[in-house]
Amino acid sequence: MKNSAIAPSLMCADFTNIKQELATMQQCGIEYLHIDIMDGVFVPNITLSSAVVKQFRTHTTIPYDYHLMITNPEQKADMIDVKDGDLVSVHYESTPHVLKAVQAYKAKGAKVGVALNPATPINVLEYLLPEIDFVLIMTVNPGFAGQKMVESALDKIADTRKFLDKRGYKNMPIEVDGNVSNENAPKMRKSGADIFVAGTSSIYAKNTSLAQSIPDFRKLIN
Ligand code: DX5
Ligand code: ZN
Repeated sequence: MKNSAIAPSLMCADFTNIKQELATMQQCGIEYLHIDIMDGVFVPNITLSSAVVKQFRTHTTIPYDYHLMITNPEQKADMIDVKDGDLVSVHYESTPHVLKAVQAYKAKGAKVGVALNPATPINVLEYLLPEIDFVLIMTVNPGFAGQKMVESALDKIADTRKFLDKRGYKNMPIEVDGNVSNENAPKMRKSGADIFVAGTSSIYAKNTSLAQSIPDFRKLIN
């Protein structure tokens, strides 16, 4: 099993204190910053923009993990500030040209994954596997923080791990996103998850401090 990694979901962050939060994440060895970009069309919400999060690069060296919840992402690659080491996931459901979308972000130097909504079958990945670096399994319907994990999530993570291993992609990581709570995370880890998007039900839970909640969470997924 690959080493686990934590990707705090910045849409859950306290932006009035973002410099301190980024410093704490750096001190805690956070591997990626999960950046949810939503266009209000693919999902009924609008959140962060690349122009805003670009400013964070002066306060942190942590790579970005862009989660693009936008229509036709293949047409918008130039709008996203990608640096070496960044991850970009494009939603299978967001374009008829998902392979073109993968290629567009690869061309910008990112490691690229395909994100699947809860109801999307894993076998849509069949002919994408040689082109992608990871799979993002949505464990809630995308668009909002604070939701509950869907019933099928744990089985789907385990089925994805089997699907990848059977095809010779044993080292391809699985990222999970949505209600990755202190209670769900160990079950997701057991099912085969490697990269954990941490939001309101774990490191950003009420009455916690990141300096404490991040190490506590890491213990749950090792
Ligand atoms: C939802 C986003 C998630 C969300 C996670 O569409 O992709 O990253 O912020 O928030 P929680 O962990 O509260 O579900
Ligand atoms: Zn996300």
